[in-house]
Amino acid sequence: MKKRYNFFVLNPNEVSLWRAALSVTEEQLSEFFAVLSPDEIARAEKFKFPIHKQRFIAARGILRCILSYYLLIEPQEIQFSYTAHGKPYIADNDVEFNVSHSHDMAVFAVTKRFPIGVDIEKIKSTYEDAVAKRYFSQQEYAGLQEVSLAQQAKTFYQIWANKEAVIKAMGLGVHYSLESFTVPIKETKRVFSLQLEKTNWSLQTFAAHPDYTAAVVTEQPIEKILYWEWTLMGPQIWK
Ligand SMILES: CC(C)(COP(=O)(O)OP(=O)(O)OC[C@H]1O[C@@H](n2cnc3c(N)ncnc32)[C@H](O)[C@@H]1OP(=O)(O)O)[C@@H](O)C(=O)NCCC(=O)NCCS
Repeated sequence: MKKRYNFFVLNPNEVSLWRAALSVTEEQLSEFFAVLSPDEIARAEKFKFPIHKQRFIAARGILRCILSYYLLIEPQEIQFSYTAHGKPYIADNDVEFNVSHSHDMAVFAVTKRFPIGVDIEKIKSTYEDAVAKRYFSQQEYAGLQEVSLAQQAKTFYQIWANKEAVIKAMGLGVHYSLESFTVPIKETKRVFSLQLEKTNWSLQTFAAHPDYTAAVVTEQPIEKILYWEWTLMGPQIWK
């Protein structure tokens, strides 16, 4: 793994959103593999399909590279801790992050001091109405019925990404009732404010790629978002 050449500073109420493609060369994959911890290697070995194993290794390798820019340590030196619900974090540090992957795209959100959650979903041409009925709030489900047929699948995946980003910021995963809260049903230009469990959450949708929809949620007012792309040549601004 090449030495770090970059360092990034996190300012209060600022969120950095990174995007990356997970289809990397064999050589790059070996470099990523070399920086993983024993428990990450054990997880990688458990995937049944090579493509899922490769994407996991790439996502963890890229995550370690990105975090090394903020933590100013080498990617392999980063030690992850996990909450009871499996959310990774770095102990004794105010750098907060979250990760999401869908097919061969990954997004990474980094901020300071406040919990953060991010989610990306590939926009497929169809969706399961039963899933929307089961997991969406009544308002979300009704809103989905009102959009044109051509926009329904996209709207479904946007709602899904918004809801997942909320529960990922809270760190609760499946342990929070998804139908109990309502998110915007379309891409939002402005930061959306959501009151949940006596906490004010800020939600912002973003388009990391034309075929995907994504959202970030954090427990702080978002004043600025920086959009970075992780590439082999180093970080690039993408928006
Ligand atoms: C973790 C969870 C919250 C998101 O998983 P997902 O959408 O399948 O996958 P993503 O790629 O977006 O996120 C996975 C990453 O989230 C992080 N993560 C794991 N547990 C987490 C938690 N409790 N909270 C926040 N982040 C978590 C990890 O970094 C993980 O990456 P890794 O697999 O490389 O370790 C999932 O376990 C979950 O509970 N999903 C809810 C399922 C559901 O009912 N969805 C219906 C939506 S309408």
